[in-house]
Amino acid sequence: MPVYKKILENVNEAILLFDSSLNLSYINTAGEVLFEDSARHLIGKPAKYLFASETMLINDLQYCIEHNEGFYDPEFNLMLAHKKITISFNATPILENEQAPEVLIELQQVDHHLRISKEEQLLAQENISRMLMRGFAHEIKNPLGGLRGAAQLLELELQNNDLKEYTQIIIEEADRMKVLMDKMLGPNKVPNKIALNIHEALERVRQLVQAETADSIKIKCDYDPSIPELKADKNQLIQAFLNIVRNATQAIQDSGEIILRTRICRQMTIAGKRHKLTARIDIIDNGSGIKPELINQIFYPMITGRHDGTGLGLPISQSIINQYKGIIECSSTTENTTFSIYLPVGNLDD
Ligand SMILES: Nc1ncnc2c1ncn2[C@@H]1O[C@H](COP(=O)(O)OP(=O)(O)O)[C@@H](O)[C@H]1O
Ligand SMILES: [Mg+2]
Repeated sequence: MPVYKKILENVNEAILLFDSSLNLSYINTAGEVLFEDSARHLIGKPAKYLFASETMLINDLQYCIEHNEGFYDPEFNLMLAHKKITISFNATPILENEQAPEVLIELQQVDHHLRISKEEQLLAQENISRMLMRGFAHEIKNPLGGLRGAAQLLELELQNNDLKEYTQIIIEEADRMKVLMDKMLGPNKVPNKIALNIHEALERVRQLVQAETADSIKIKCDYDPSIPELKADKNQLIQAFLNIVRNATQAIQDSGEIILRTRICRQMTIAGKRHKLTARIDIIDNGSGIKPELINQIFYPMITGRHDGTGLGLPISQSIINQYKGIIECSSTTENTTFSIYLPVGNLDD
């Protein structure tokens, strides 16, 4: 094999060459992986076939050929048949004497870099949230006890029964606030860590949510049964998943579908630490989608898009998953919303 070919077939970038009519004349191995198709099947196909949802891009390529002008986009969102990815896109026109012009395209996935910076941001955010939330809850809980006690004493002194209605309101509201504050402080029990299969927790969540919602919401499971166990507190994981699945049911108005999908990822780095095996749990719904003005804030406490929401569900889930060295990410379009939970598994020693 000529050296240049060996190099082309082994670089991590996808390399594609289109002829002057924008038909594919070459694609390397990284390209086959990216497009999940073989060179044999793809060669000769028009650019429109490979980039079916990208009319603008086709126009740009046409322009590139006609005007001999390349272009570069460091963060191009590419819609492929089965997935949406972020890539750096570099198009270079090739003009050799006497020959019709061609265009060389180099594509490299940048999702990974973006994911890491997003992840650091999420973790920093999570630490601040947790500190704020706990400090706030402590400060409120203390005077709340005094308030409730005083209302009880006052009630004993009251001669007029009609007035007791008011002291009852004070007591009930104080109790309601205490429940909320306890939620913010999180469980004060020591976690009971056991060897656990994530599907046990997921199945429990599915049963609970299916019982809460009418048949209008379908919950589909797509599990990878080979995912190894992890050492965790089952109730904590149930809580973490449940908060996310409940949000999904609330985002679905009349009828819709939730998919619980699990996959294994190898050699994944989370917050700077490499893990041999990581379970990825996707919770996907086809509900209303996350409001664009909320998308960057939903992991903060007290951020809610619902009139009766507390804004505590997601920060609590995030805090639990972080305890197990994992992370939660989300993405949302008008078609569906995906929360992806990454949880290191397979190491039962720590
Ligand atoms: N699957 C989802 N689809 C649409 N919006 C969502 C989804 N999950 C979360 N959200 C938005 O994030 C907000 C915060 O969620 P959460 O922290 O659980 O608090 P709460 O449910 O009490 O509002 C929700 O109010 C909602 O606006
Ligand atoms: Mg919620």
